[in-house]
Amino acid sequence: MRIGVLTSGGDAPGMNAAIRAVVRCGTAAGGAMFGIRRGYNGLIEREIVPLDNRAVGGIIERGGTILRCARSSAFLTPEGQRQALETVAQLQLDGVVVIGGNGSLQGARWLHRNGVATVGIPASIDNDIARTAMALGVDTALNTVVEGMNRIRDTAIAHERAFVVEVMGRTSGYIALMGGLAGGAEIVLIPEIPVSMEEILASVRSGLERGKRHSIIIVAEGFVPSGLSLEVESPGRAIARALEKTGTIETRLTILGHLQRGGSPTAFDRVLACRMGEAAVEWLAAGTGGVMTGLSNQRLIPFSYDVLDEECTNVDRHLYQLVDVLAH
Ligand code: F6P
Repeated sequence: MRIGVLTSGGDAPGMNAAIRAVVRCGTAAGGAMFGIRRGYNGLIEREIVPLDNRAVGGIIERGGTILRCARSSAFLTPEGQRQALETVAQLQLDGVVVIGGNGSLQGARWLHRNGVATVGIPASIDNDIARTAMALGVDTALNTVVEGMNRIRDTAIAHERAFVVEVMGRTSGYIALMGGLAGGAEIVLIPEIPVSMEEILASVRSGLERGKRHSIIIVAEGFVPSGLSLEVESPGRAIARALEKTGTIETRLTILGHLQRGGSPTAFDRVLACRMGEAAVEWLAAGTGGVMTGLSNQRLIPFSYDVLDEECTNVDRHLYQLVDVLAH
């Protein structure tokens, strides 16, 4: 078997561990392995490197991706797609493992529909891919958020201030919700659950009345306070400013940003990467292309790419209520 592997979209911690697992499981099965650089751009522009076991040494603990990654606009064009298929044919690849988020896996589906066997490994800190309880990188990003919140709480308590902490997630509130629960936030604001600015202010005031002298409000970047339009401004900035203006409590804003994407993967992400990498190679060898590796009840299941069209249900509304109960 000749197998290519690429990382695409936004990087996520654990991508390197997954590349290593794909390469070493592939060579163990007698395959020839190829790294495709800069996501789908590498398929189009033929940036391909042979990968042996030594080439993927010392990377299990590294964040980012040794293959680099990109959101390829060229791959969305008929010409780019034609060139990508030509590369696959010229290199005589029997299969391609695509490691990335929703958009990247859609690309893997396109390749599959056009005659290329692919297996997708979901990797995105947003955890917005249906049917997999966890995507690669989520656990590491959550731990980064929680560590940041620990530090922020120290200074929030010292100064009796409110802190608005804005986290990533695109249109998903997963990082904000789980980060808020694990980090002990007073308020969590996510796109999936509408809350108005008045309700946010009332909640901070109610905390003060209960004797809480500080407050941590974690807000997902995709949240918009109901009744407002935030075309230019980040939600964190808008909320921090509104809170400060009321004179209720001195307020500061921290946008965690790309800090959440970097860093050494946690043990959870490394183990998941090893398992998903192994499954991807096994499934390609068995002729089970056209699927992604989904984690369901601790097991890896080959889910058809059609689940990419489903709504992701990883945000648990009960946990949203629990944050509130535990903030009392
Ligand atoms: O999808 C991962 C993600 O980090 C999102 O949470 C965020 O909105 C986006 O990528 C940021 O993209 P970029 O790195 O292109 O600024």
